[in-house]
Amino acid sequence: MKQTILVTGGTGFIGSHTSVELIEAGYNVVIVDNLSNSKIEVLDGIEKITGTRPAFEQVDLRDFEATKNVFLKYPDIEGIIHFAASKAVGESVQEPLMYYRNNVVSLLNLLELMPQYNVKGLIFSSSCTVYGQPNPENLPVTEEAPHQKATSPYGNTKEINEQIILDYIHSGANIKSIVLRYFNPIGAHPSALIGELPNGVPNNLIPYVTQTAMGIRKELTIFGNDYNTPDGTCIRDYIYVVDLAKAHVAAMARVLDQDTDKIEYFNIGTGHGNSTLEIVETFEHATKVKVNWKYGPRREGDIEKIWGDCSKANSILGWKADTPLSDVLLSAWKWQEKLRADGVM
Ligand code: NAD
Ligand code: WQD
Repeated sequence: MKQTILVTGGTGFIGSHTSVELIEAGYNVVIVDNLSNSKIEVLDGIEKITGTRPAFEQVDLRDFEATKNVFLKYPDIEGIIHFAASKAVGESVQEPLMYYRNNVVSLLNLLELMPQYNVKGLIFSSSCTVYGQPNPENLPVTEEAPHQKATSPYGNTKEINEQIILDYIHSGANIKSIVLRYFNPIGAHPSALIGELPNGVPNNLIPYVTQTAMGIRKELTIFGNDYNTPDGTCIRDYIYVVDLAKAHVAAMARVLDQDTDKIEYFNIGTGHGNSTLEIVETFEHATKVKVNWKYGPRREGDIEKIWGDCSKANSILGWKADTPLSDVLLSAWKWQEKLRADGVM
């Protein structure tokens, strides 16, 4: 019998790639999404890749009754991967209450419903943002690194949600959880049938690079070249979204295994950093497309350098990010070309 997994935010960027990997690993997938930051057509992409159309419910997870109805309709759900959240750091500074309500209330509703409907395992999408500001004391950051001041209301919701899950499990709730702290997810499925759909002018580096290469944006600004790094630009741990998706499949098998701890934390990244300049140069080399770019001032709030120690996930989850950066950047470009071909942008 196939196990059924609820994927919240499953039409979003990481959720859609994870749904593909879950289906390919033999799970039944039920997606819940309110489509606030994704499109229903994503289901067509998932179906084309896997040959299976996942069940879909357009539900807002802030709505307790509507969320409860999902568990009534799909009584076989054994595990949840909870991606659904608002994620724009800058917007969260402008609209903190919206961020706290969406990200925190959605989690509270799911946690309350899990024991009632006998759902055993929760994978929670956290972020390296919990390691906070201004810069990590030691690199690479391990799961035990201190959580310093969070960078934004968005970052606070990740920190608070991690604490809520821990408190709930400490209270004796009959659930287990694995918290995955992602570094910087990038790229798209190699089929170019699913990918990232940023709203408006992108804040994140890779969509800005691909849109500049496509001529949608005039010029990429590299924010700062006077950092204490080898080439002066910031360093991040860029993790391929398909590798990241596979980490969720490994984590789901583990969280549903009765013999593992009630709560575990894993960094999910490549284990090494690349500078912004390296990203732009590798993109140009892989795609043979020029990116019009210049150096500009530092962006307020940017961390100078961060990358993860992911050896715990490597050994315990038996998972490793192994896609070469040039292939990852090529996948992002193919996705941008597909968006252009489809007249999306
Ligand atoms: P995304 O915006 O593409 O996907 C999130 C999905 O959740 C969207 O489809 C949106 O419509 C849905 N959603 C939001 N609020 C909802 C609600 N109340 N009810 C139902 N659906 C709702 O984002 P993503 O990049 O795929 O991120 C997924 C998760 O990973 C988020 O929790 C995010 O905070 C976390 N994360 C993302 C990154 C990143 O850089 N992309 C890094 C670290 C962590
Ligand atoms: C990457 C690097 C920029 C755009 C954000 C969130 C974090 C997490 C991941 C969710 C930085 C540089 C960027 C540009 C540039 N998300 N850059 N020019 O800031 O590491 O993290 O996404 O949890 O919480 O804060 O990602 O893609 O914005 O930036 O030079 O036009 O690219 O300075 O060094 P960031 P990013």
